[in-house]
Amino acid sequence: MQERAPAEAVLLVGGKGTRLRPVTVNTPKPMVPAAGVPFLTHQLARLRAAGVEHVVMATSYLAEVFEPHFGDGAALGLHLEYVTETEPLGTGGAIRNVASRLSSGPDEPVLVFNGDILTGLDVRALLDGHTGSGADVSLHLTRVTDPRAYGLVPTDDTGRVTAFLEKPQAPEEIVTDQINAGAYVFRRSVIDAIPDGRPVSVERETFPELLAAGAHLHGMVDSTYWLDLGTPQAFVRGSADLVLGRAPSPAVPGRRGECLILDGAEVARDAKLTGGTAVGTGVVIGPGARIEGSTLLNGSVVGPGARIRGSMVGAAARVGANSVLDSAVVGDSAVIGADNELRGGIRVWCGARIGDGSLRFSSDQ
Ligand code: GDD
Ligand code: MG
Repeated sequence: MQERAPAEAVLLVGGKGTRLRPVTVNTPKPMVPAAGVPFLTHQLARLRAAGVEHVVMATSYLAEVFEPHFGDGAALGLHLEYVTETEPLGTGGAIRNVASRLSSGPDEPVLVFNGDILTGLDVRALLDGHTGSGADVSLHLTRVTDPRAYGLVPTDDTGRVTAFLEKPQAPEEIVTDQINAGAYVFRRSVIDAIPDGRPVSVERETFPELLAAGAHLHGMVDSTYWLDLGTPQAFVRGSADLVLGRAPSPAVPGRRGECLILDGAEVARDAKLTGGTAVGTGVVIGPGARIEGSTLLNGSVVGPGARIRGSMVGAAARVGANSVLDSAVVGDSAVIGADNELRGGIRVWCGARIGDGSLRFSSDQ
């Protein structure tokens, strides 16, 4: 039997990454390093491993940084194309905007992915399920304990989608714990039918309208690893899970374990790095520092005796001696003096300077 041509994929990478600021002030979310490489590398490597060859990236915010990094995709074994929106077109508008680059026929499947999802999804199973059910759109669904920040997707007992409720506000709308996991298969002709040249939300407009018109949307629920890296805490968690080997990726540049240290980092011999900590190139970590489940971006400096947990330290940022960071984000080039205590989701903006002994969450005794 003849092998089917591999499906092509669209990656949505144009969002502003607002919830990740200040990490996304200088870098778009998909390009922020997770486990040592821009996050998108993991998604692209997984797509290649699933047999995908042609990927079109829909870019908008800080669009200029993608192509210089990934080029034509040959290094990953992919053929990559980039399409930049002149104004942000939203998720549906972005998909429609790349249609001219797709070569699939009207009834053929096209994969579409949100660009901030770390998952063990079996892409081939999603494609096979799509072909098997004959759906117009198939959606990967996952279950979460608090679905309010996501698109809720109830299905009937055959898996057919019965409603799509994006970020519901009212308690009576919380009808399921199944959410849109941000991976779809579209019948090509459904993409061509999205209105052209204006912002469209696939979640708030396209899916509800398709359902109202009687289209067949099909959900595939599974319980594989899944995380949306849209917040600092989630991003740091995702990076740590990649380093630890809990989240699958062929693109982690090193062995799985308690920490990943890129070439060119200087780590004091008695510093303790655990919990999937990722250390970028040119990072310097002083004696006695203890770092757990954190991401230290390129060129950052951690002083002696500092304690860092579940935090992100931006490129070229400095954390002074004996300072404590717990669930903190330090923007690129920010300087935290010695003996500070930063906790509870605090965000220090890029380039900010905090003097020695300036911030505490507890008494200094
Ligand atoms: N090109 C382009 N243009 N991409 C965009 C735009 C745009 O105007 N707006 C958003 N994106 C991209 C983002 O870069 C991201 O990869 C993806 O679309 C989804 O946007 P997010 O901002 O991350 O959305 P969300 O996390 O609040 O919600 C979405 O994902 C959830 C799962 O993580 C929705 O699809 C929910 O329904 C879903 O549950
Ligand atoms: Mg998201």
